[in-house]
Amino acid sequence: MLICQKSHFALPPGVHYLNCAYMAPLAHAVRSAGIAGIDRRAAPHLIRPRDFFEESDVVRSLFSRIVNAPDPNRIAIVPSVSYGLATVARNVRATAGDNIVVLEEQFPSNVYAWRRLCAEQGLTLRTVASPPHQHSGRAVEWNARVLTAIDRRTAVVALPQVHWTDGTLFDLERVGQRARECRALFVVDGTQSVGALPFDTRRIQPDALICAGYKWLLGPYSTGLAYYGRAFDDGTPLEEGWITRRDSENFADLVRYRDDYQGAAIRYDVGERSNFTLLPMLAAALELVLQWTVPAIQDYCRSVSTEVTQTLRERGYWIEEDEWRAPHLFGLRPADAGSTATLSDRLAARDVAVSLRGDAIRVSPHLYNDSGDVEALLDALAL
Ligand SMILES: Cc1ncc(COP(=O)(O)O)c(C=O)c1O
Repeated sequence: MLICQKSHFALPPGVHYLNCAYMAPLAHAVRSAGIAGIDRRAAPHLIRPRDFFEESDVVRSLFSRIVNAPDPNRIAIVPSVSYGLATVARNVRATAGDNIVVLEEQFPSNVYAWRRLCAEQGLTLRTVASPPHQHSGRAVEWNARVLTAIDRRTAVVALPQVHWTDGTLFDLERVGQRARECRALFVVDGTQSVGALPFDTRRIQPDALICAGYKWLLGPYSTGLAYYGRAFDDGTPLEEGWITRRDSENFADLVRYRDDYQGAAIRYDVGERSNFTLLPMLAAALELVLQWTVPAIQDYCRSVSTEVTQTLRERGYWIEEDEWRAPHLFGLRPADAGSTATLSDRLAARDVAVSLRGDAIRVSPHLYNDSGDVEALLDALAL
């Protein structure tokens, strides 16, 4: 079991930061990599042509280990989830009358792409509603509703692994199986889970997995990673940059224009993906995740959240059953829904950073949290 790793982070003292689902604080190693990147950029003669490629490949390879993807070339470097999903939407083959399955109150980047595709191609957006929160067995039923919603006219199933507002877990192995039976593309937004909850690409078999880098991957803002499976091998990227073309390593020959791309998913990299400040920061962050290991991060978050959830349930708060919520991200709903605003003020007064998402107070611990943070949270939530 890991001990608290607060000393690795640059969080100011006195702040009870329980909000990794909003944005991870920078670890010292990530911050230093960024400063070194800026300094290097000030002296461009130090940036070699091969750095445009090798540093991107390091990032692909580190991420592919986190998600157990066998081929690092299946990982594209993207600036945001909306970008990674726009690539998916650009390559969906569907006919009018088909449907796209999403969840109620899913993160907007994983909804707007589909709303546009539906409008352009005459598809239906099928939003799977959550059963009422207080309902026992809610998550089991919600998962069952997802499976029922997928049918032979489903073109895309686009889900997260955990719901971003309250951490409800989705059984992606079952959903993926159902999507394959119906020949639907299976697209996962891993932003709120990958890095803190194991994600095994070989078992879940998504066609695409898109993750923002700045939350549970501990990286800088404006970075993200996207796995694209075989379904996208001959697809069309959003942009036509020079670096994604075959043999782009050979700078002298760049004007010998060619039609073929670099391997697997590299064609989907964003333009100027070789960012000399952000990529070294992302690499340092992914190295930390691999060093700590995702299961150990998850165990640590579970140890923090178990105490909190037991006490708060006794005080009448509703929290999803432990088996069906992520250990690193959970929503609290007070018995009196009208008290949320007061609680939010009390949390702020006590320097406890959490988020209000939908009607839930979202708590999302990481390795830098300790018993002092838990005490401050429980203290502020005593009504
Ligand atoms: C589930 C989820 N997906 C994606 C994002 C970020 O989306 P984007 O990179 O398009 O800004 C967030 C940010 O909170 C999120 O919670």
